[in-house]
Formats: sequence, structure tokens, C-alpha cells
Amino acid sequence: MEFALITGASRGIGTELAREMAAVGVPSILVARAEEELKRLSDEIESDFGLKCKWLSCDLTLDEERRNLFRFCEEHALDVAYLINNAGFGTYGEFVDIPVSRNLSLIELNISALTHLCYLFLPSMLAKGKGRIMNVASVAAFMPGPNAAVYFASKAYVLNFSEALHQELKGKGITVTTLCPGPTESEFMKVSGMENSSMVHGKKLDDARKVAKKGVSAMRKGQRVYIYGIINKILAYSAKWTPRSIGLSITAMLQKPVKK
Ligand SMILES: NC(=O)c1ccc[n+]([C@@H]2O[C@H](COP(=O)([O-])OP(=O)(O)OC[C@H]3O[C@@H](n4cnc5c(N)ncnc54)[C@H](OP(=O)(O)O)[C@@H]3O)[C@@H](O)[C@H]2O)c1
Repeated sequence: MEFALITGASRGIGTELAREMAAVGVPSILVARAEEELKRLSDEIESDFGLKCKWLSCDLTLDEERRNLFRFCEEHALDVAYLINNAGFGTYGEFVDIPVSRNLSLIELNISALTHLCYLFLPSMLAKGKGRIMNVASVAAFMPGPNAAVYFASKAYVLNFSEALHQELKGKGITVTTLCPGPTESEFMKVSGMENSSMVHGKKLDDARKVAKKGVSAMRKGQRVYIYGIINKILAYSAKWTPRSIGLSITAMLQKPVKK
């Protein structure tokens, strides 16, 4: 039976991605640190869709836990036909004011874990000549982000790495879709300390379920990049054509903390 391995499945967009995969008949291997949430989601998917998921609590910032996840899939002979690298978080504030350990941990999760899991799971997809990968970036991938410098840069890596990989894999039956959401309703803003950023404060955020639905559809079609929502598409494309100095000033303004 084919499975979707979904990182960051314990809440937010990841939980919705797992529900969406179940809706198209694919059970998931649910991965995050919060064991109880993974177990609860697995039970919910079993009762709603009659699909048996697997789950594993992992801290994906740790190299050994990523290898352990791969071993777990091998030992249970799980056919990972879909790899969805969704786990991620942000940091907010001026770079020098953020403890460097937090930013290094962000790089370890948003960049290293995603890269490592692609490396571990690609060989079996290549052997079968079949596979779908989704890497979750952000509309932030298209521009540098003062006040969230490391987060924006990490998502630029995800976009560039994933597009290059998609091209390398052409003709081999495997596609890599980069999903780029804009500000979306989840725990992300709280965890990342971004609730006070002008970009999101008091604004209506996108619905995680709708983002996941569009993302899964784009991945199943093998689309290279999918940007969710018209405003985010405009933001991303205008970032390409606006001179860098002007783009930087606009992002700096959008990312400023609101005055209290
Ligand atoms: N929400 C937005 O506005 C937004 C916009 C653009 C892009 N994104 C991207 O969308 C993705 C999902 O974000 P979200 O909005 O769903 O945020 P979220 O609600 O905070 O969920 C993040 C997920 O990542 C998991 N995670 C965090 N640290 C982990 C670790 N060390 N090891 C394993 N799993 C870990 C969390 O689970 P545990 O805490 O249980 O480990 C959780 O399941 C992220 O890559 C984010 O950058 C979000």
C-alpha cells in the first residue's frame, strides 16, 4: 500500500495535508514531536476514512532521528510514494536580537531535515520510477525579509532546491512541487513570534484546509510550484520584477512590528 510521509503533521497545514491525502484514499505516516496529536489524528483518519495511518514522534532537527524515521519505514516495509516536507517554523525580530541557537535550529528543520529526507527517500522512488514530493516553502521564498531574515532565506533555499530537483528528476517519473502559502491560520505566527508583524496583525489569514487542498492537487498533478491565493501570486511575481532596493523597503515596512 502506498503512503504519504508528512512532516509537521501534528497541527496546522500538516494536519490538513494528512486529511486531504486521506480524502484521496492515501494513508499517511504522520511525523512531528507531539505524540498525542499524531495518535489522535491517526485515530480520526481511521474512523473517518477507514485508512490505517502510521505515526512516529521525531525531532527532525536531529540527524539521528531523521535516520531513525527512514529505518522505521524500511522495517515496516512502508511504500513512501509521497514525501511531504512540511515541518517548519520562523523567527521574528532583528537578527542580532534573536538567540543564534534558535536560528540554527530553524535552519536545521527548514533546510537540513527537508534536504536529508529527500536524499533518504529518493532512491526507492527512483527504483520504482514513480514518486511525488511536496516541499512547503512560502511566499517569503521570493524576497529577502528584514525582521525575519533567516526564515525568508530558508524558504528561498526550499524554493530553489526544490525547483532544481524537479528539473533533475524530469523523465524519471518523480516530481517535486513547491507549495508557497501566504499568511495562514495555524500556530505558526505564535510559535514564530510573528503575531505582531504588520503583515499579519489584525488581518484575516488564509484557511489551512484550503491551502492543503490546493497543495495536494498541485502535487498530484506534478506541478513545479504552486502559490496559494491571488494576492500571494501578485506579491511573488511583483517581487521578481521590482528592483531589489525597493522590494527590500516594502518588505521591511510589511514586516515592521505594529505600534502598541
Ligand atoms: N502559517 C503560515 O502563515 C505559513 C505561511 C507560509 C508557509 N508556512 C509553512 O508551512 C509549514 C507548516 O506550518 P504551519 O503553519 O502548519 O505551522 P504550525 O501550526 O506551527 O505547524 C508546524 C508543524 O511543524 C512541526 N515541527 C516543529 N518543529 C519540529 C521538529 N523539531 N521536528 C518535527 N516536527 C516539528 C510541528 O509539530 P511539533 O511541534 O509537534 O513537533 C507542527 O506539526 C511550515 O514549513 C511553514 O514555514 C506557513
